[in-house]
Amino acid sequence: MSVTGADKAQAAARLLKDVQAAFAKIDDRRLRELVTKAIHSVHVFVAETGLSRNEWDSSLRFLTAVGQACNEKRQEFILLSDLIGLSTAVDSGEYNSEEGDTPSSVEGPFYIEGSPLIEMGGSIIVDEMAGAEVAMVRGQVFDRSGKGIVGAEVDIWQTAPNRLYAATDEAQSEFNLRGRQKTDKEGRYAFQTVKPVPYSVPRDGPCGTLIKASRGHGMRAAHIHVRVSAPGYKTLTTQICPAGDPYIESDVAFSVVAPLVVEFRPSQQAGDDFRLIADFDFVLQAST
Ligand SMILES: [Fe+2]
Repeated sequence: MSVTGADKAQAAARLLKDVQAAFAKIDDRRLRELVTKAIHSVHVFVAETGLSRNEWDSSLRFLTAVGQACNEKRQEFILLSDLIGLSTAVDSGEYNSEEGDTPSSVEGPFYIEGSPLIEMGGSIIVDEMAGAEVAMVRGQVFDRSGKGIVGAEVDIWQTAPNRLYAATDEAQSEFNLRGRQKTDKEGRYAFQTVKPVPYSVPRDGPCGTLIKASRGHGMRAAHIHVRVSAPGYKTLTTQICPAGDPYIESDVAFSVVAPLVVEFRPSQQAGDDFRLIADFDFVLQAST
């Protein structure tokens, strides 16, 4: 007796029901929901694609390689999440609930806690770097009512003009282009840095193989990563992107939205030790 398509579909539905039932006793309601819905999604994927045993093997090998590429300074899973738009999908549901909120954006794989505190107007440039365009990035951190938030922490990190983060470039000092600052009594922050440049995400690992297969350019539009936090407010992770960057429309992480794009304009003040100025304000949501 031959197995029909209807039999197969029935068996697949029964299998899915049994597997979900096996996890139905997880006490935490939210965890139970996430696990059983994830199981549902992967079973639907297998049914819709007709995933073969060889393809399943290859998929596991790929994910194993992603895990093996991770270390203290490199997070290949975050990179994979960025490449498939998952990070942006999660972010867009996390912090963009009201008009006027600063959109959140991807954290990327290179955030490191414990950057040094810098004074108002101070510099995060530690190393001399050829081609650096020094810029003052400044603004205010507000709550939704427009009131400046005192003592908010603005934590920033970015690539050097050689397109590398200090985290992965042994030629750079540990704290080059990384720093934290506390806002003043009106919620202001100001730091000197260099105008960021676009860069390629790491292509020497399994995610690089995926980029190559897709014939993508693998470039992130230039950006400064920012994490803004304050007691009583939801932490905002986002980025500031210089206007005019050639990868804004095709950023490999799908992470650039218009409100995060800012002009780095020439400084008009004689005697400034920076050439460019970028003004950018942040709005934090109360943590409720
Ligand atoms: Fe980045």
